[in-house]
Amino acid sequence: MSTIESTPLVPAQGIPPAGRSTAIESMDAYRALVAEAAQDHEAFWARLAREHLTWRRPFTQILNDRDAPFYKWFEDGELNASYNCLDRNLASGNANKTAIIFESDDGRVSTVTYQALYHRVCRLANALRARGVKKGDRVVIYLPMSVEGVVAMQACARIGAPHCVVFGGFSAKSLHERITNVGAVAIITADEQVRAGKTLPLKSIVDEALAMGGTDAVKTVVIYRRTGGRIPWIGGRDAWLHELENDQPDTCEPEWVSAEHPLFVLYTSGSTGAPKGVQHSTGGYLLWAAVTMKWTFDIKPDDVFWCTADIGWITGHTYICYGPTAVGATQVIFEGVPTYPNAGRFWDMIERHKVSIFYTAPTAIRSLIKSAEADRAVHPGSFDLSTLRILGTVGEPINPSAWNWYSEHVGGGKCPVLDTFWQTETGGHMITPLPGVTPLVPGSCTLPLPGIDAAIVDETGNEVPNGQGGVLVIRKPWPSMIRTVWGNPDRFRNGYYPEELGGNLYLAGDGAIRDADTGYFTITGRVDDVLNVSGHRMGTMEIESALSACPLVAEAAVVGRPDETFGEAIVAFVVLKGPRPTGTDVKRIADELRAWVGKEIGPIAKPKEIRFGDAMPKTRSGKVVRRMLRSVAKGEEVSQDTSTVENPQVIAQFADPA
Ligand code: PRX
Repeated sequence: MSTIESTPLVPAQGIPPAGRSTAIESMDAYRALVAEAAQDHEAFWARLAREHLTWRRPFTQILNDRDAPFYKWFEDGELNASYNCLDRNLASGNANKTAIIFESDDGRVSTVTYQALYHRVCRLANALRARGVKKGDRVVIYLPMSVEGVVAMQACARIGAPHCVVFGGFSAKSLHERITNVGAVAIITADEQVRAGKTLPLKSIVDEALAMGGTDAVKTVVIYRRTGGRIPWIGGRDAWLHELENDQPDTCEPEWVSAEHPLFVLYTSGSTGAPKGVQHSTGGYLLWAAVTMKWTFDIKPDDVFWCTADIGWITGHTYICYGPTAVGATQVIFEGVPTYPNAGRFWDMIERHKVSIFYTAPTAIRSLIKSAEADRAVHPGSFDLSTLRILGTVGEPINPSAWNWYSEHVGGGKCPVLDTFWQTETGGHMITPLPGVTPLVPGSCTLPLPGIDAAIVDETGNEVPNGQGGVLVIRKPWPSMIRTVWGNPDRFRNGYYPEELGGNLYLAGDGAIRDADTGYFTITGRVDDVLNVSGHRMGTMEIESALSACPLVAEAAVVGRPDETFGEAIVAFVVLKGPRPTGTDVKRIADELRAWVGKEIGPIAKPKEIRFGDAMPKTRSGKVVRRMLRSVAKGEEVSQDTSTVENPQVIAQFADPA
């Protein structure tokens, strides 16, 4: 990836809709907001919280840092997230406005107004209550991309039951881990999921997960009938979503909760141990979802917004379920994948639905570039994309060549490309250009949003000068930050506010560098053992323990290798209990291990490459030499000194990819 130094500034681009200015209209306006926050951090956030959210009971306390880093925001204020996303729209004249344009995998389109969405959410909320789900109970959601996904999340929010959405690509075992860790009392799923014409039996996977034990608390499984495929049924526990909805009134008094009441728990990978449940609050989280829709995306009443993420990830939480609805936007929700029935699907959908703001992952862009270059029929230039005015990316660094292609061929050279940096833990955008305002640099996420006090420090927590790399930290707490790791406060404190940095800086886990002239940030990638594969976070340790659990495997080490399309590829080094495989056994066993990881975690964690050796290369003190393995994975000569390695001869064995 080229650095800021080698890439010229692209003048601020982006045309606000005719006759209107952007939410933050100039760099001066941006600087004024930054200054306002710097002058009185709490007053700044309090002003936003009063202006952007509707409170049942206004807050009188702003930040409570008595138990730092367990910060609390607007604690004595009361509100309801679903009220802010639905009822508020009915009151403000959006009742008949389209909330969701849904397109199924096979291209069928349906629309839902805010009024209809409100009634569906109320019915499901009533049904959940009728089944005994109450404030504070956790509900796991394992659904495909659908209107029902948003209905389910909002219904949970309406009754104050924190949801825990699990991505449909996770296996029964991963689902089980999350159900038990979060202590769910109900699950909302579908009979089947459909993607690229293929079905996946979600309900059967739920049954499999529930049969693994420790799930007695789960009394209800609600099933959305997506395909009508045959499913196993457990009487008393299982219920069809449409039947539950039919039986219920279409209004539902919201549960008014403290701003600090957990809105959801979302699991993400860390560098060690099992996935951690990132707990978000109701007030602070929703505030930033709404504000960033306006500041970053400059959302206007007639925009058509499309975020291509899955609701199983934070991007789908903030920029599908909560952000767009909190500001009364019309959005597209897509069930399928960008390459089905062909790689022109995104461009075709942008044309047909007149999308004006488009938000996707660099991996998607990179893979579509390849297809577009090979086949003019799926090239964005073959579609009318003139409705687009803002483009965004998220999830991983975007290389300047992909950025330029996106800008030129998708944006027609007139749309700003916003490289938005943030994380599951941050709730919403942290560092991002503002459309039409911030001069852009391909490959840089530019400047922190007002109120976000980002800095780059060395390993002891001291700020490094611009131009010198370090680790990214956020110095002051902000309302949409992670509150804790579900059930594991020590992991929250030690992982995010480490003592080595003084215990008062939020550690993002990414390396970063600021440009000497512009002060722009460029994210250089994770500094821990977290991989980013296609914009999905994967812990190397998780994959290692999945592999090690396989009866064939004696030992495994997993590293990432830079990958042109997917950002990083997973490379596994494996020592079998039996002899090192040769000939056709190499592929056979590698495939078996890949399938094993697919079952243990999910298809997204399957290693791209598996290499076998007689033993794991280790130092004399028994530590796996990961740095060397990373070089080996890249196909580099192992230049590091191998004299400290106990068994250097095995490195050559591993140099051979299976
Ligand atoms: O490494 C950073 C990368 O994705 C990580 C967060 O992953 P997750 O919690 O799954 O959330 C992804 C969607 C918000 C970060 O620690 N990342 C995210 N956005 C960018 C990025 N890396 C570079 N540039 C970005 N714009």
